Amino acid sequence: MEIAVLGAGHVGPVLARLALAAGHTVSIAGSGDPARIAMIVEFLAPGAVAASAADAVADAGLVVLAIPWHRFPSLDPAPFAGKVVVDAMNHWPPAAAPLGTSEQVAARLTGAHVVKALNHIAYQDMEPAAGRAAGVAGDSPAAVAVVSGFLRDIGFDPVPVGPLSAGRHLEPGSPLFGVAAGQPDFENLPTLAKEQS
Ligand SMILES: NC(=O)c1ccc[n+]([C@@H]2O[C@H](COP(=O)([O-])OP(=O)(O)OC[C@H]3O[C@@H](n4cnc5c(N)ncnc54)[C@H](OP(=O)(O)O)[C@@H]3O)[C@@H](O)[C@H]2O)c1
Repeated sequence: MEIAVLGAGHVGPVLARLALAAGHTVSIAGSGDPARIAMIVEFLAPGAVAASAADAVADAGLVVLAIPWHRFPSLDPAPFAGKVVVDAMNHWPPAAAPLGTSEQVAARLTGAHVVKALNHIAYQDMEPAAGRAAGVAGDSPAAVAVVSGFLRDIGFDPVPVGPLSAGRHLEPGSPLFGVAAGQPDFENLPTLAKEQS
């Protein structure tokens, strides 16, 4: 699959490496000219291609948003229509809004199939991914299946958390946030056990 990773900071290159190791094709974009991140990409995710956000998204079967939350409004929503989009962003400090951040992402990226995942795992805990649970929340079963398949490919054990609204349980301030546990321990955490009962 063609994976577009938006963000070439802490999270983006780690996910790019994992995706490349699983045999995917990866483009990484920062906020500006791809030439600005070419060296980062070459050193941190060799085999990935530095691209503009628009080009990366245009070709992608799956897009990962790994950019700061406050930069999200700078994205043009148009290229995301019809795309499966993983929202790995977090609001700091924890959001007080009635909607979870991924619900806000879905509201802005009209026509995209937004799935919340990976935001609750610190980048240092993402690699290796094997044996780590990754919560997945989304409203489109098909998109959740695509993202869960991708997470499995790169080593995580995807754990369904519920619809996008339940993704709030993965956000900062929740007991699940920052948890890098195996699937049984993750599923037995009180917040998730309650949500799934
Ligand atoms: N750090 C973690 O452990 C961790 C774990 C899980 C989730 N998260 C979440 O993941 C997101 C990224 O975290 P991070 O620690 O990787 O951040 P970071 O190190 O600050 O990197 C942010 C990256 O986003 C890029 N960016 C900003 N606006 C962009 C745009 N419009 N299009 C494309 N790229 C853009 C920046 O590029 P420029 O330099 O060109 O601006 C930079 O490469 C945040 O929302 C964070 O809360 C972080």
